[in-house]
Amino acid sequence: MGIGSILVHGHKEPDNTFNAVVPPIYLTTTYRKEKFSEPQEFEYSRGANPTRTYFEEFIAYLEGGRHGFAFSSGTAANAAALSVLGFGEKVLVTRNVYGGTVSLLSTVFKNFGINFELVDTSNLEELEDRFDSKTKAVFIETPSNPLLDIADIRAISNLAKKHNAITIVDNTFLSPYFQKPLELGADIVVESATKFLSGHSDVIAGVAATNSDELAEKIGAYQRSGGSIAQPFDVYLLIRGIKTLAIRADKQVETTRKVIAFLDGNPAVDRIFYPGLVTHPGYEIHKKQARSPGALLSFELNGSNYNIEAFFDSLRLITHGASLGSVESLIQNPKTGSHARFTQEQREKSGIKDNLVRLSVGIEDAEDIIKDLKNAFASAKK
Ligand SMILES: Cc1ncc(COP(=O)(O)O)c(C=O)c1O
Repeated sequence: MGIGSILVHGHKEPDNTFNAVVPPIYLTTTYRKEKFSEPQEFEYSRGANPTRTYFEEFIAYLEGGRHGFAFSSGTAANAAALSVLGFGEKVLVTRNVYGGTVSLLSTVFKNFGINFELVDTSNLEELEDRFDSKTKAVFIETPSNPLLDIADIRAISNLAKKHNAITIVDNTFLSPYFQKPLELGADIVVESATKFLSGHSDVIAGVAATNSDELAEKIGAYQRSGGSIAQPFDVYLLIRGIKTLAIRADKQVETTRKVIAFLDGNPAVDRIFYPGLVTHPGYEIHKKQARSPGALLSFELNGSNYNIEAFFDSLRLITHGASLGSVESLIQNPKTGSHARFTQEQREKSGIKDNLVRLSVGIEDAEDIIKDLKNAFASAKK
């Protein structure tokens, strides 16, 4: 079966009790014990719940992994993946990674003795230089948030293995519909399911998958003991959202290409970041490892001639707000939004300028999105 059909029908029959087409939502927290001394698959829903288990197997299947996990947020999924590191160990992280991931490392994991360094993971030589005996993982986003930098998943996975380290890929910007990091050699894939998997801005959730029994054991232990599980109703929403992932994502990419054509050469735009542009330095690598450049793009507004506040405040259709990957187009300024918790120095080092704009293209009509941008540019002209 093709991926579009699997997204609709799932990896197996959803219900073998009444042949329901939609997987049942098991809201139960606990389960009657059959036998005093025999363990059961389902005993308490923090440990396992049938709705979540169905979804976790589905995620593993979609990612090409053997073990899947569903969490209460993408950040919780990232925390679970990073929890495989031990005291005194170090992780190398894509320099313009999602701001929340850096917060997680600098405010929480730092206290557990886990160190991190931001690196340009699109530069293999620089990455290799940063390995030392403490480096046990590389955490990459490709395309990265918000500059859409491309990292070579296969090459980095090989490099990490050579140094006895694992590779974790945050696949939020593409979803398994467009990119499957485990098949390229990554050890763990994580994703904010809040974005493309849900697709409707109505659930916060995260997923992780791996092929390694050893890593799955650790991630599972974190999930059970840390308790940051996805709830059954949220899982239902995710399964519902995933059914339309293919048509949403295909349409979003088609519209993104039209938006790019509008922005390219526009006097209001200094620079565009999109891995579907042949001028993007990661274009060839991205084409090799992903089926599509995706529906996220960033651009630098021409700050000398256009006022950024007026631009954002003049938008009528495109929503100025956090998040991405939804049916509605979402736009934000990384300096004040997704990367507000980066220090100015971190932003500068990561190449995130104050006038950067990140746009997540939704499923509205392309003409309306372009009209909204055009009007906002006109209103923002100094
Ligand atoms: C690339 C990336 N990873 C992880 C996250 C965190 O996801 P969540 O908000 O579901 O915790 C985000 C959120 O925007 C993101 O953009």
